Amino acid sequence: MKGMVRVPAGDAEIAVQVRGDGPALLLVHGFPFDHALWEHQLKTFPGWRRIAPDLRGAGNSSAPADGYSMARYADDLIEVLNALDVAAAVVCGLSMGGYVIFELLRRHRSRVRAVILCDTRAEADSEEGRRGREEMIALAQSGGAAAVADKMIPTLLAAETRSERPEVEAYVREMILRTPVTGIVGALRAMRDRVDSTPLLADLRLPVLVVVGESDGITAPEAGSAMAGKIKGARFATVTGAAHLPPLEQPFVTTRLFADFLKNVL
Ligand code: MLT
Repeated sequence: MKGMVRVPAGDAEIAVQVRGDGPALLLVHGFPFDHALWEHQLKTFPGWRRIAPDLRGAGNSSAPADGYSMARYADDLIEVLNALDVAAAVVCGLSMGGYVIFELLRRHRSRVRAVILCDTRAEADSEEGRRGREEMIALAQSGGAAAVADKMIPTLLAAETRSERPEVEAYVREMILRTPVTGIVGALRAMRDRVDSTPLLADLRLPVLVVVGESDGITAPEAGSAMAGKIKGARFATVTGAAHLPPLEQPFVTTRLFADFLKNVL
């Protein structure tokens, strides 16, 4: 199966972009984005079968009114791997995509061959963080995806991305604007309620790459480096000229980091 595939998953249907042949590389987007976050990575990596789903509530997937959780997202990914006949994949997640991968590791460890964690963290939300989720839920419900885009974009992108490559900002805004409010609210609740994944780190025993944009204000490089330090053998890299979205802000550098890592994982 190639191109855009639709996979039934409980009360939802998951839209998945599938490109290329070879071992599976599963690309899991963050919040509030969709598979298009991986635009550049979907086009590269010959020799890999690139699989980029839209999580439920995002992109072309269906957006049920409720029932969102990290466990649900992770189980949806298993439905995707099953439908594509993939026994185990290298999994790469950005931010919320990383939170989903931690849940995947807890629930379906045997389906994961190696891990790339971008701009994410293992800790659960703090009390303040949870309050912030409630505020964002209220903002989404009153102002829609546009209000969420206005609030988030200044922290998602590096100052130089915004000033020198306005097309990247426009692209990110488009992605956010096409995310249904039910999906936005569902994801915010799922992130608010996620558990601490720090206890997983010491026992991962898998090849792991941690990548963070040098000016990421949502998950700081120091936090990424500390997380990598807790994972035996993990590699850590920062991406200059990027904030929270290195795959889009610095696609060539990010793709090269992934490629160097992937060369040695199988
Ligand atoms: C994301 O990019 O997925 C979110 O910013 C993560 C978060 O808000 O914790």
